[in-house]
Amino acid sequence: MDTFQALLERRLASALSAAGLPRAGEVTPAADARFGDYQTNAAMVLAKQRGENPRALAQKIVRAIEVSDFADKPQIAGAGFINFTLRAEAVAAKTAALLNDDRLGVARADSPKKIVIDFSSPNVAKPMHIGHIRSTVLGDALARIAEFLGHDVIRDNHIGDWGTQFGMVIWGWKNLLDRDALARDPIAELVRIYKETNERATADPAIREACREELVKLQAHEPENYGIWKQCVDLSMQEFARTYELLGIRHDIVCGESFYNDRLAGVVERLLASGIAEESEGAIVVFFRDVAELADKPIIVRKKDGGYNYATSDVATVDYRVQDLKRDTCWYVVGAPQTLHFRQIFEIARREGVTADLRHIPFGNILGEDRKLMKTRAGESVPLREVLDEAVERARKIVEEKNPDLAEAEQQEIARKIGLGAVKYADLSQYRMTDYVFSWDKMLSLHGNTAPYLQNAYVRIQSIFRKAGEVPPSSNISLTEPAELVLAKRLCQFAEIVPTILNDFRPNILANYLFELANSFHAFYEACPVLKSEEPARSSRLALCRLTAKTLQRGLALLGIEVPERM
Ligand code: ARG
Repeated sequence: MDTFQALLERRLASALSAAGLPRAGEVTPAADARFGDYQTNAAMVLAKQRGENPRALAQKIVRAIEVSDFADKPQIAGAGFINFTLRAEAVAAKTAALLNDDRLGVARADSPKKIVIDFSSPNVAKPMHIGHIRSTVLGDALARIAEFLGHDVIRDNHIGDWGTQFGMVIWGWKNLLDRDALARDPIAELVRIYKETNERATADPAIREACREELVKLQAHEPENYGIWKQCVDLSMQEFARTYELLGIRHDIVCGESFYNDRLAGVVERLLASGIAEESEGAIVVFFRDVAELADKPIIVRKKDGGYNYATSDVATVDYRVQDLKRDTCWYVVGAPQTLHFRQIFEIARREGVTADLRHIPFGNILGEDRKLMKTRAGESVPLREVLDEAVERARKIVEEKNPDLAEAEQQEIARKIGLGAVKYADLSQYRMTDYVFSWDKMLSLHGNTAPYLQNAYVRIQSIFRKAGEVPPSSNISLTEPAELVLAKRLCQFAEIVPTILNDFRPNILANYLFELANSFHAFYEACPVLKSEEPARSSRLALCRLTAKTLQRGLALLGIEVPERM
């Protein structure tokens, strides 16, 4: 099913060729609704190219274009824009068709990609903190959207499960571990022994040396140390799993840093053999002398002591994803501070002849109400679990107030959807590079651009249907009131919006669309009685309600947000 935009694009192309003109310009939603629904700049683009009069060209195009089956006669405005206004019957017919389409009109991508999405990727033996929420929620939404558009997606959790810190963790495990504390809260205990060991090692060179020896033994896969390391990883993964389950987020594979250990020596050999890497002061280094912004930023792939690092494992990761997993597209949903790192890794890949599309998808920070990086009172980063639990708790108070008669279990279930939805939406409704202030009151508000506002719109529609009783679903739609037409046009735009999200990885485009949709619904609901109206308006309006609910539900699902049936 074509969107109106796609239809106009095709008709414009035929008109241009009929008029003996080359393809030019584009069809976009109208900048100002007073002038219509869509516009094209084709005449202006051509005028510039050919040194002709734009309004004369516009007239030529308007004479040649055939849109009378779904739009009014196109109007020329300003310097040569051509504006199109949809006819109500065409919008009604399209809306009716959408009601019977599970995809709500969204086309599958013409050339599906094989994508791996690296997201969440926390570090073991450390808590997942509020900073990880953005990668986790954004990566999950992008995965859902890409899959919906027909791409083949592998979700990879590239956990930080290897590195020099394990020397200290293992020494701490052997000398400081409190087993009861470990059973109660494993990550907290791992953090405690790490911190205490670190302090001792700083003060005492003998302990520092002991930690180094533990690390060497781990790297040699000595059974005791390897076993301790494995337990640390397993305990952390169990913790992470609880958070993912609460969030309704999953990964297909967990290939963390340690997964690449066996490949690191080979990677460095290969980089040396191809001349991409060279020896420098005992280390093996890649220089980027011919890339202006990297010219003074070489990257070490093997340290002087023979150890490999984060960079080496990321070079191996590219190999694995491209060669073993056969991906043509790799997305890295990782904070902006790692921009340089990925720039370097991708440049190495390019030099090695990798042609896959490697993309770093960076994001900004979450700030506390004081507009500084969000911290606990003790100055530490806030554990994600605590934030999520608090979200559900706060949402529960709202549900209790609004709907005290609901059974306990149902209240809890609704609170979970609202609380987690609020946290996710607060994140996804912002442009990802924007730092945003984490505000409970704002994100849980039933008014404004929030998840609860959208969920409430959905719930309102469900309650209309409960009151309506048994109604055979009708898709006879007629649009007579202005508010009906506005709502129906919005519903048709869903299929135009969704494919654009991946252009610049901006789920906030979808969030903003859903917000506009809910606003149009409320305006419609105020202007047009539904259950109290006469047939055929009643069935038609119920059909609009039904499509609005479906679109809200599907749109929020693409963001990883569930809707309750009541709240
Ligand atoms: N573990 C890293 C961190 O928390 C993120 C890993 C991102 N992925 C990657 N392939 N480097 O900062």
